[in-house]
Amino acid sequence: MALIRKINARQILNSRGLPTVEAVVLLENDQQFTASCPTGISRGTREAIELTDKDFARFRGREVNTAIRKINEIIFPVLRGTNPIEQGLIDRKIIDLDGTPNLANLGVNAVLPVSTAVAKAGASVAKQHFFAYLNHYFNELIVELDDYKIDTTEYKHHIPRPAFVLIEGGQHTESNQPFQEFLLIPKVSDNQSFWEQLRIGSETFYNLKDILIERGLPCSYGEEGGFSSPVNTPEEALDLILSAAEKTGFTPYTDFTLGIDAAGAKPSDSLSSHEEIINYYTALKDKYPIELIEDPFPEQDWASWIDFVEMAPEGALIVGDDFTVTNPELVEQAISRSAISGLIIKPNQVGTITDTLRVAKIANYREVKTVVSHRGGDTNDNFIADLAVGVSANFIKCGLTRGERVAKYNRLLEIDAIIGQAS
Ligand code: PGA
Ligand code: ZN
Repeated sequence: MALIRKINARQILNSRGLPTVEAVVLLENDQQFTASCPTGISRGTREAIELTDKDFARFRGREVNTAIRKINEIIFPVLRGTNPIEQGLIDRKIIDLDGTPNLANLGVNAVLPVSTAVAKAGASVAKQHFFAYLNHYFNELIVELDDYKIDTTEYKHHIPRPAFVLIEGGQHTESNQPFQEFLLIPKVSDNQSFWEQLRIGSETFYNLKDILIERGLPCSYGEEGGFSSPVNTPEEALDLILSAAEKTGFTPYTDFTLGIDAAGAKPSDSLSSHEEIINYYTALKDKYPIELIEDPFPEQDWASWIDFVEMAPEGALIVGDDFTVTNPELVEQAISRSAISGLIIKPNQVGTITDTLRVAKIANYREVKTVVSHRGGDTNDNFIADLAVGVSANFIKCGLTRGERVAKYNRLLEIDAIIGQAS
């Protein structure tokens, strides 16, 4: 049996040139499996805790030697000799070892890379493609909540629709744009391949670049590979993307829709009450083909979220990110109180593979649409592509340029080909 012989962790750099954790799980059959941890820039306050060294004389305090030691000295001794296909058991051991509700002891940046590398090892031992292995575990996972229990299921693995980050603002840039992300979400018919969705994204991206140049605006890039030009209002950003898509002849609603991540920011300083903000979004949705609105309100403002879901225009998904932080209890609460109709899934907000799948299963079961997402500081680990397919996610949100972003899309192309050959 290929049991875990060793786990080695070390520091690597993320896409921002800052330290993060990479873990390598070595099996007794000499195979090894690697995973790394992304980092958010605009984080929800209730996300699991990331451990950084806080020695501000080095890497702005962001070295992660503490998390590395937790893996090598505390987690590995407990997992030595376990079978990597026992994902549930292994994740349980890690959670028990931590003993806090938000991984404050071990750190999510120690927990996630180990849990992910174990899952990759498990898929190999089970001789399954990683996405298929995750899908199998997802369906087998039994979720028990206070009011109900979700038994084994039969969700099919499927390729999500991409949501490309084309323009960035908020904390991701120096511009005055209040919103953090503007998304282009292609729409293709069932018989068209994932490649066609990438084509819609790529052609629109380069049309957008041409338009920015024509208008004398800088073509600088944000943290996620979208443009960070000084486009200071949401309307300007949406107009630009619309013009860029239409330049190739793509038609709103037929070939694409748009999305926004407000990251809890107000659309403009002139709006104060939540009625005004809801009216603003409703008017925006009337004017533009918007399908997805993420974090329209700050995370503590439950009343606004609930009102917005009730009054939201037809066809607009109201998506929780910082609001729900991939936390099973918060997600269940937000769904029960009708405060969201869509959900961002970021594994490093919660920690283990099992808990990530648990959240996705609650969302699927309760018919809330899911968006598996990259983070502002990401790595070349393409694991979220397999995750999105495995949990039958509706969307995957990621930038369309930069190596650490396209790694996810290129893996989806590979999965698309594997699924195509099998059918
Ligand atoms: P992040 O933001 O920088 O916290 O990863 C991305 C997002 O909010 O979706
Ligand atoms: Zn967000």
